[in-house]
Amino acid sequence: MLVIAHRGASGLAPENTLAAMSKAIELGACAIELDVHCVEGELVVIHDRWLQKHTDGHGLVHQSTLEQLAKLDAGQGQRVPTLWQVLEQVAGRCDLNIELKGRNTSDALIPLLSRAESELGYQPQQFLISSFNHRTLAKVKQQRPDLRIGALIACCPLHYAQFAEELGAFSIHLDVNFAEPELIADAKSRGLNVYVYTVDEPEDLLEMQRLEVDGVFSNWPDRARETLGVTRC
Ligand code: G3P
Ligand code: MG
Repeated sequence: MLVIAHRGASGLAPENTLAAMSKAIELGACAIELDVHCVEGELVVIHDRWLQKHTDGHGLVHQSTLEQLAKLDAGQGQRVPTLWQVLEQVAGRCDLNIELKGRNTSDALIPLLSRAESELGYQPQQFLISSFNHRTLAKVKQQRPDLRIGALIACCPLHYAQFAEELGAFSIHLDVNFAEPELIADAKSRGLNVYVYTVDEPEDLLEMQRLEVDGVFSNWPDRARETLGVTRC
Protein backbone atom coordinates (compact mmCIF):
# COMPACT_ATOMS: atom_id res chain seq x y z
CA MET A 1 0.00 0.00 0.00
CA LEU A 2 1.23 3.48 -0.86
CA VAL A 3 1.64 5.84 2.11
CA ILE A 4 1.45 9.46 0.98
CA ALA A 5 2.87 12.15 3.26
CA HIS A 6 -0.08 14.47 3.79
CA ARG A 7 0.89 18.16 3.37
CA GLY A 8 4.47 16.87 3.65
CA ALA A 9 5.31 15.12 6.92
CA SER A 10 2.92 17.55 8.57
CA GLY A 11 2.81 15.75 11.92
CA LEU A 12 6.49 16.55 12.33
CA ALA A 13 6.97 19.96 10.68
CA PRO A 14 4.69 22.89 9.75
CA GLU A 15 2.37 21.62 7.03
CA ASN A 16 2.98 22.43 3.37
CA THR A 17 6.37 24.03 4.09
CA LEU A 18 9.80 23.13 2.71
CA ALA A 19 10.62 21.70 6.16
CA ALA A 20 7.64 19.32 5.90
CA MET A 21 8.76 18.24 2.40
CA SER A 22 12.36 17.64 3.60
CA LYS A 23 11.12 15.66 6.57
CA ALA A 24 8.94 13.47 4.33
CA ILE A 25 11.90 12.72 2.04
CA GLU A 26 14.16 12.07 5.02
CA LEU A 27 11.59 9.49 6.23
CA GLY A 28 11.68 7.79 2.84
CA ALA A 29 8.24 8.89 1.61
CA CYS A 30 7.37 7.56 -1.83
CA ALA A 31 4.85 10.32 -2.44
CA ILE A 32 3.95 13.69 -0.97
CA GLU A 33 0.60 15.46 -1.10
CA LEU A 34 0.46 19.26 -0.98
CA ASP A 35 -2.19 21.94 -1.52
CA VAL A 36 -1.84 24.87 -3.89
CA HIS A 37 -3.60 28.19 -4.45
CA CYS A 38 -2.97 30.71 -7.20
CA VAL A 39 -1.52 34.10 -6.24
CA GLU A 40 -0.64 36.64 -8.96
CA GLY A 41 -0.56 33.81 -11.52
CA GLU A 42 1.83 31.69 -9.46
CA LEU A 43 1.02 28.56 -7.46
CA VAL A 44 1.78 28.77 -3.75
CA VAL A 45 1.69 25.88 -1.30
CA ILE A 46 -0.85 26.45 1.44
CA HIS A 47 -4.00 24.61 2.47
CA ASP A 48 -6.49 27.21 3.58
CA ARG A 49 -7.94 30.11 1.61
CA TRP A 50 -7.46 32.33 4.68
CA LEU A 51 -3.91 33.26 5.64
CA GLN A 52 -4.65 33.40 9.37
CA LYS A 53 -5.34 29.68 9.48
CA HIS A 54 -1.72 28.65 8.92
CA THR A 55 0.39 31.82 9.03
CA ASP A 56 0.79 35.03 11.02
CA GLY A 57 -0.87 36.95 8.15
CA HIS A 58 -4.51 37.94 7.64
CA GLY A 59 -6.84 37.95 4.67
CA LEU A 60 -7.60 35.79 1.68
CA VAL A 61 -4.68 34.00 0.06
CA HIS A 62 -5.74 34.84 -3.51
CA GLN A 63 -6.04 38.53 -2.64
CA SER A 64 -2.50 38.75 -1.27
CA THR A 65 0.67 39.35 -3.25
CA LEU A 66 3.71 37.11 -3.58
CA GLU A 67 5.74 39.81 -1.86
CA GLN A 68 3.39 39.80 1.14
CA LEU A 69 3.30 36.01 1.28
CA ALA A 70 7.08 35.73 1.25
CA LYS A 71 7.26 37.65 4.55
CA LEU A 72 4.80 35.46 6.48
CA ASP A 73 5.66 32.89 9.10
CA ALA A 74 4.02 29.55 8.31
CA GLY A 75 5.22 28.05 11.61
CA GLN A 76 8.65 27.66 13.22
CA GLY A 77 10.00 30.39 10.97
CA GLN A 78 9.06 28.53 7.80
CA ARG A 79 7.77 30.46 4.77
CA VAL A 80 4.86 29.74 2.46
CA PRO A 81 6.72 28.17 -0.46
CA THR A 82 5.85 28.49 -4.11
CA LEU A 83 5.18 25.21 -5.91
CA TRP A 84 8.31 25.83 -7.95
CA GLN A 85 10.41 25.99 -4.77
CA VAL A 86 8.99 22.62 -3.69
CA LEU A 87 9.59 21.12 -7.12
CA GLU A 88 13.21 22.30 -6.96
CA GLN A 89 13.69 20.98 -3.46
CA VAL A 90 12.11 17.57 -4.05
CA ALA A 91 13.98 17.36 -7.37
CA GLY A 92 12.16 14.25 -8.54
CA ARG A 93 13.09 12.18 -5.47
CA CYS A 94 9.47 11.16 -4.90
CA ASP A 95 6.07 11.45 -6.53
CA LEU A 96 4.00 14.58 -5.95
CA ASN A 97 0.25 14.76 -5.51
CA ILE A 98 -0.62 18.38 -6.21
CA GLU A 99 -4.06 19.22 -4.87
CA LEU A 100 -5.59 22.21 -6.63
CA LYS A 101 -7.49 24.55 -4.31
CA GLY A 102 -9.14 27.85 -5.14
CA ARG A 103 -9.43 29.38 -8.60
CA ASN A 104 -7.29 29.65 -11.74
CA THR A 105 -4.95 26.91 -10.67
CA SER A 106 -4.96 24.81 -13.84
CA ASP A 107 -3.75 27.66 -16.06
CA ALA A 108 -0.76 28.21 -13.80
CA LEU A 109 -0.09 24.49 -13.35
CA ILE A 110 0.34 23.33 -16.93
CA PRO A 111 3.35 25.50 -17.89
CA LEU A 112 4.95 24.95 -14.48
CA LEU A 113 4.89 21.17 -14.84
CA SER A 114 6.29 21.38 -18.36
CA ARG A 115 9.12 23.49 -16.97
CA ALA A 116 9.70 20.98 -14.13
CA GLU A 117 9.89 18.19 -16.70
CA SER A 118 12.37 20.01 -18.92
CA GLU A 119 14.49 21.76 -16.28
CA LEU A 120 14.29 19.50 -13.24
CA GLY A 121 13.98 16.09 -14.90
CA TYR A 122 10.54 15.12 -13.59
CA GLN A 123 8.62 12.43 -15.46
CA PRO A 124 4.91 13.16 -16.12
CA GLN A 125 3.91 9.99 -14.24
CA GLN A 126 5.49 11.39 -11.08
CA PHE A 127 2.65 13.88 -10.84
CA LEU A 128 -0.85 13.17 -9.61
CA ILE A 129 -3.15 16.17 -9.88
CA SER A 130 -6.15 16.10 -7.58
CA SER A 131 -8.98 18.41 -6.66
CA PHE A 132 -12.45 18.54 -5.17
CA ASN A 133 -13.20 20.74 -8.18
CA HIS A 134 -13.81 18.19 -10.92
CA ARG A 135 -14.29 20.85 -13.57
CA THR A 136 -10.75 22.00 -12.90
CA LEU A 137 -9.56 18.40 -13.25
CA ALA A 138 -11.39 18.05 -16.56
CA LYS A 139 -9.55 21.17 -17.76
CA VAL A 140 -6.19 19.72 -16.73
CA LYS A 141 -6.97 16.42 -18.46
CA GLN A 142 -8.03 18.24 -21.61
CA GLN A 143 -4.75 20.15 -21.78
CA ARG A 144 -2.49 17.33 -20.63
CA PRO A 145 -4.18 13.94 -21.24
CA ASP A 146 -0.97 12.19 -20.15
CA LEU A 147 -1.16 13.52 -16.59
CA ARG A 148 -2.73 11.37 -13.89
CA ILE A 149 -5.66 12.96 -12.15
CA GLY A 150 -7.23 12.07 -8.82
CA ALA A 151 -10.87 12.89 -8.11
CA LEU A 152 -11.36 13.99 -4.52
CA ILE A 153 -14.69 13.57 -2.77
CA ALA A 154 -15.99 13.94 0.76
CA CYS A 155 -19.18 11.93 0.30
CA CYS A 156 -20.55 8.67 -1.08
CA PRO A 157 -21.99 9.57 -4.53
CA LEU A 158 -25.26 8.13 -5.73
CA HIS A 159 -23.54 6.40 -8.63
CA TYR A 160 -20.46 5.50 -6.63
CA ALA A 161 -17.28 6.07 -8.69
CA GLN A 162 -18.97 6.64 -12.05
CA PHE A 163 -18.02 10.34 -12.04
CA ALA A 164 -14.31 9.48 -11.66
CA GLU A 165 -14.42 7.08 -14.59
CA GLU A 166 -16.13 9.78 -16.67
CA LEU A 167 -13.29 12.14 -15.80
CA GLY A 168 -10.72 9.66 -17.01
CA ALA A 169 -9.21 9.71 -13.54
CA PHE A 170 -6.32 7.54 -12.40
CA SER A 171 -7.60 7.47 -8.85
CA ILE A 172 -10.43 8.37 -6.55
CA HIS A 173 -9.50 10.00 -3.24
CA LEU A 174 -11.95 9.24 -0.45
CA ASP A 175 -12.54 10.80 2.92
CA VAL A 176 -11.93 8.07 5.51
CA ASN A 177 -15.45 8.74 6.82
CA PHE A 178 -16.92 7.65 3.48
CA ALA A 179 -14.50 4.87 2.59
CA GLU A 180 -17.32 2.35 2.32
CA PRO A 181 -16.62 -1.15 0.97
CA GLU A 182 -19.22 -0.78 -1.82
CA LEU A 183 -17.68 2.47 -3.04
CA ILE A 184 -14.18 1.01 -2.93
CA ALA A 185 -15.29 -2.12 -4.79
CA ASP A 186 -17.08 -0.03 -7.43
CA ALA A 187 -14.02 2.17 -7.95
CA LYS A 188 -11.78 -0.87 -8.33
CA SER A 189 -14.18 -2.51 -10.77
CA ARG A 190 -13.79 0.61 -12.93
CA GLY A 191 -10.00 0.29 -12.85
CA LEU A 192 -9.52 3.23 -10.51
CA ASN A 193 -6.93 3.36 -7.75
CA VAL A 194 -8.39 4.14 -4.34
CA TYR A 195 -6.58 6.49 -1.96
CA VAL A 196 -8.02 7.48 1.40
CA TYR A 197 -7.39 10.64 3.48
CA THR A 198 -6.45 11.40 6.21
CA VAL A 199 -5.57 8.19 7.99
CA ASP A 200 -3.41 8.39 11.11
CA GLU A 201 -5.03 6.11 13.66
CA PRO A 202 -3.67 2.53 13.68
CA GLU A 203 -7.19 1.04 13.70
CA ASP A 204 -8.17 3.08 10.64
CA LEU A 205 -4.92 2.22 8.85
CA LEU A 206 -5.44 -1.49 9.41
CA GLU A 207 -9.08 -1.22 8.33
CA MET A 208 -7.99 0.44 5.07
CA GLN A 209 -5.46 -2.33 4.55
CA ARG A 210 -8.21 -4.90 5.12
CA LEU A 211 -10.38 -3.10 2.54
CA GLU A 212 -7.43 -3.32 0.12
CA VAL A 213 -7.26 0.36 -0.74
CA ASP A 214 -4.24 1.33 -2.83
CA GLY A 215 -2.99 4.14 -0.64
CA VAL A 216 -3.53 6.35 2.36
CA PHE A 217 -2.63 9.93 3.14
CA SER A 218 -1.02 10.30 6.56
CA ASN A 219 0.40 13.20 8.55
CA TRP A 220 2.82 10.72 10.13
CA PRO A 221 3.97 8.67 7.13
CA ASP A 222 6.68 6.91 9.13
CA ARG A 223 4.26 5.67 11.78
CA ALA A 224 1.71 4.69 9.14
CA ARG A 225 4.25 2.63 7.24
CA GLU A 226 5.30 0.90 10.44
CA THR A 227 1.69 0.08 11.37
CA LEU A 228 1.02 -1.26 7.89
CA GLY A 229 4.30 -3.12 7.60
CA VAL A 230 5.16 -1.20 4.44
CA THR A 231 8.91 -1.32 3.91
CA ARG A 232 9.36 -0.05 0.36
CA CYS A 233 7.68 2.05 -2.33
O1 G3P B 1 -5.71 15.25 -0.81
C1 G3P B 1 -6.20 14.65 0.35
C2 G3P B 1 -6.66 15.66 1.36
O2 G3P B 1 -5.63 16.58 1.56
C3 G3P B 1 -7.90 16.38 0.93
O3 G3P B 1 -8.41 17.25 1.90
O4 G3P B 1 -8.72 19.38 3.03
O5 G3P B 1 -6.80 17.96 3.66
O6 G3P B 1 -6.83 19.16 1.49
P1 G3P B 1 -7.65 18.48 2.54
MG1 MG C 1 -5.00 18.35 0.59
